[in-house]
Amino acid sequence: MLRNITLYAEADYTAMSVRAAAIFAEAVKEKPTAVYGFATGSTPEGMYRELAKLRENGADFSDITTFNLDEYHPIKPSDPQSYAYYMKERVFGPLGITKTNLPDGTAADPAAECVAYERKLASAGEVAMQILGIGNNGHIGFNEPSDTFACQASHVPLAQATIEANARFFEDASQVPRHALTMGLHAIMMAKRILLLASGEGKAQILAQALTGPITPRVPASILQLHPCVTVVADKTAFSAAAFGAMAFGAMAFSATAFNAAGAPL
Ligand code: GLP
Repeated sequence: MLRNITLYAEADYTAMSVRAAAIFAEAVKEKPTAVYGFATGSTPEGMYRELAKLRENGADFSDITTFNLDEYHPIKPSDPQSYAYYMKERVFGPLGITKTNLPDGTAADPAAECVAYERKLASAGEVAMQILGIGNNGHIGFNEPSDTFACQASHVPLAQATIEANARFFEDASQVPRHALTMGLHAIMMAKRILLLASGEGKAQILAQALTGPITPRVPASILQLHPCVTVVADKTAFSAAAFGAMAFGAMAFSATAFNAAGAPL
C-alpha cells in the first residue's frame, strides 16, 4: 500500500512540465542555497524550459548546488549526446546555475570516479529535492533492472532496452555508449523529497508497476514506495487509470492523493 505519494495527473506534457517546474521552483524559493539532484532524458526537458521562463519572471536558481544522477561512459563533455552537454545547454546556462556536479564520463578509473562522486555528494549535505525520470524498464538514473538493488554509485553496463530506447538521441544504436556512471539507489533514497516525472503512453505500465506493484530490483523505481516523500507528476497518457486501476484503485490499496488536470481529486 502506498503512503506519502502525491500524484499529479496532468492533461498533457506541457501541463506536466508547468506543474513540475512550479513544484521545483517553490522548493528552491524555500531553500535557495540547498543541494538539488538533477536528471536528464527527454521527460524533464519541458520542465527545464518552464523553469527558464520562471527565471525570466524573477525566480532565482543561482545559489543552488546541483548533482546529476548519471552520465554515459566513456563520453566527452563536449559530445552533444553527453549529459554534461545537455545540462550545460538546457539547464545550467538558461537557469544561471554555476555550482554543478556530474559524474565524469571521461574518467580513466570509473570505479574510483563513482566513489569520489558519492563522497562529494555526501559532503555537500542533504539533497532537498531529487528530480527523476523513469526508464521504460523501470530504471532510475542508470540503475537497471537486476537481481539486487544497486545501493552505491556504480559503473554499469546499460541494459539492451536502454540502449535501444536511447538510440534515438544518437545516429544509431551502435553509437550509444555501453556503460554509464550512475548515482546509486541509496543516495537517491536519501533525498529529502523526490520529484518523479513521467510522460507518454509508453511509461504507463511501468509507472503503475513501480508505484503499486511489488518492490523489486527487477523494477528499480519500485524502491520509491519506501521513500517518505514522493511527488509524481505525470501526464494523463503516462498516468493510465487502466494500468493503475487494475493494480491499485480496484484493490483499494492506493492511498496516494491523485488529481486530475483541474486539480480535483480523482
Ligand atoms: C535515461 C536516463 C534516466 C532517464 C530515463 C528516461 O536513460 N538515464 O535518468 O530518466 O532514461 O528517459 P526519457 O525521459 O528520455 O524517457
